[in-house]
Amino acid sequence: MATRTPKHLATSILRQFGRRDATELAICRPYRLRPRHIHISARRPSNDAPRVPHPKLPTGRAPPYQARAAPLSFLVGGGVAASLLAYSQLAEDNPGVVDRAPASTDDRDPSLPRFRLADIRKHDASSSQPWVTFEDKVYDITDWIAAHPGGDVILRAAGASIEPYWNIFTIHKAPHVREILQQYQIGFIDAADLGPDGLPAAETVEDPFVNDPIRDPRLITHTAKPRNAEPPNEELDRTFKTPNELFYVRHHMWVPVVEEAKAGEHLLSIELPDGEIKQYTLEDLKTKFPTHKVTAVLQCSGNRRNDMTRHAGKTNGLQWGVGAISNAEWEGVRLSDILADAGLKVRDAASPTPNSSQIPNTEDQVDANAFHVQFTGLEAYGASIPLAKALDPRGDVLLAFGMNGETLPRDHGFPLRAVVPGHVAARSVKWLSKIVVSDEESTSQWQRRDYKSFGPNEGANPNWDRAVSIQEMPVTSAITGVWVGDCVRRGRVPWMGTSDNSTTTPNGSRILDMAAVSKKVGFTPKPTDTNLPATPCPPTTPADEPVAVQGYAYSGGGRAITRVDVSLDGGKTWDQAELVNDRAESPHPGNKAWAWTRWRYVGALPILTLPTDTTCDTTNTAERSGCHDRKAPKQCTTLVVKATDDAYNTQPENHRGIYNVRGNLATAWHRVKICPRCTGGGGAAGDGKGGLTWSTGETFGCGFRKEAEEVREGMRRQGVVANGGNGNEGSN
Ligand code: MTE
Repeated sequence: MATRTPKHLATSILRQFGRRDATELAICRPYRLRPRHIHISARRPSNDAPRVPHPKLPTGRAPPYQARAAPLSFLVGGGVAASLLAYSQLAEDNPGVVDRAPASTDDRDPSLPRFRLADIRKHDASSSQPWVTFEDKVYDITDWIAAHPGGDVILRAAGASIEPYWNIFTIHKAPHVREILQQYQIGFIDAADLGPDGLPAAETVEDPFVNDPIRDPRLITHTAKPRNAEPPNEELDRTFKTPNELFYVRHHMWVPVVEEAKAGEHLLSIELPDGEIKQYTLEDLKTKFPTHKVTAVLQCSGNRRNDMTRHAGKTNGLQWGVGAISNAEWEGVRLSDILADAGLKVRDAASPTPNSSQIPNTEDQVDANAFHVQFTGLEAYGASIPLAKALDPRGDVLLAFGMNGETLPRDHGFPLRAVVPGHVAARSVKWLSKIVVSDEESTSQWQRRDYKSFGPNEGANPNWDRAVSIQEMPVTSAITGVWVGDCVRRGRVPWMGTSDNSTTTPNGSRILDMAAVSKKVGFTPKPTDTNLPATPCPPTTPADEPVAVQGYAYSGGGRAITRVDVSLDGGKTWDQAELVNDRAESPHPGNKAWAWTRWRYVGALPILTLPTDTTCDTTNTAERSGCHDRKAPKQCTTLVVKATDDAYNTQPENHRGIYNVRGNLATAWHRVKICPRCTGGGGAAGDGKGGLTWSTGETFGCGFRKEAEEVREGMRRQGVVANGGNGNEGSN
């Protein structure tokens, strides 16, 4: 369905003429979109200034504060009479105005009217003139809605205090936002509705997260509202495709409610550069276009931020462990098909000038290298990608409605989301409702600010405008599982074969050939038997102490992982991991390497000296610290992984060189320290009950939960706290 209305033309014209202003303003002062001739001042003008007409009031009527939006030349002359006139006119037209002089104890600006809370409530989202309050002031936000980067989300606060929402979206707690709001002040809350502290009673807002879906309890939650959670390491890459219920979740707001029965009617509007708007229902997309499947990773730019924090310094944002990444098979329609159907005309790169002798280009064709596709979700989140990526026939950008063979779950964008393989997941907008093809990037804070990275020298106040938006992701890898010593010998490693030496699992992954493993690392694995006595404690660890390590590697832009290097001694010596062949798991890989590569490694640890006190009991906390002699030589070793992609990009050695205050793109070598210990009644004492055991972080025995522990600790210590309590301010 195509519509072409004067409104759209007007939008287009506005965009043409207002673009520069809008862009600049949106970047520097995101909310300050006022006509250029209007003077904006944070200070209140003198009371005797003449008033410019308030657009929502009958001609000639103006709330006094609107005068602040007048040109400077207007702000001279006039008098108290004008103020009083404006006040009485406002009172006449707005029944909420208290028809009496302010109380003598009320020493606030007498030129401004007072409103009762009951009347303010009438100016809710359904009103043509929505108001909000902040502290004891009343604001008419009618004109702000169109310029508000979060769109009409602001209407949720209409008729009441905006403060509870600012507590959720803490980015608003900045002086420039107060300054903008100030422009819309029309009066004060009546003193009768104020407490002794001069403020109204705290507002209880309807919890906007009340309809969020119930999540799998195994997810590690960073923030509950909005929900941000990652799968535990042991689940993250257990299978090639992350199960839907364990796929990491990254929300900036609540999950929009779309009734399942009405999902087919969900509307996607597409605005072309000339202002023309086309609309498609989900049903249209599903029935009129060919569907495609692509297996692709989504990864947040903040993945492994906690690692950067621990190794390079404080970072702002959610303290993700290694799990802000997951892999799934997506089903949907190609964005390029929809844009072509909508009538987008693209300049032929082979005949760039209109006079070319081959296929002449015309004025209405756009240059794919200069344009962007802006996506907006139902709850107002927005981001964009270059048009060239959207149109790349090998780029596999989907408008997806299916995930791992199921309907897209609500947490992951039901009923429709963009999936932009190879790019930072911030561009894969969920609950997609609007697409705009524009010659500028999305003006949202998530495009212009949050998802950018900076030089280590830039400190806490980087130059946001100079940095480019993150699009394609760099190469990264992480360790997600470690098993040491008896854990390996006793067959606790899920992907190591037992007696039959199978080479494939039911899901197609390879199992390491145990004969090859024992030859390589010089030990003979024992069959699964939990009753076997532990290895006794010698003064040093044995020469063939086995270690099994697993993890994932991934690079953006569709670049394939060609090699994963593993070190068992902190990076002094290296070996190569086995890349898991997951081809059978990925019948729809798409045109490039969009999925992750899982890897496995089995090796023998370097000999380490054990703490001398072998009698200490590790179940006793007081004694345990005595056992943990940090100064003992070579007591611990560090496992390291790094990956290389097919462009020979590889990971930086440490986070110091790529440190940025946002903690974005934390891709340094991933390290996990492991330490040997002797447990109580140790094997060295000969009773067979204890023996040599290994820890990763605070976790003893088989398995590896180090990251999860540290992520939790990171959250407690600084992550969410650093962001005002909910991880929303500039977090990613
Ligand atoms: N789309 C909408 N509408 N709202 C959001 O908050 N978050 C973005 C992106 N798309 C977001 C969104 C970010 S930052 C990430 S990392 C991914 O969604 C997370 O996708 P997932 O929750 O499906 O893993």
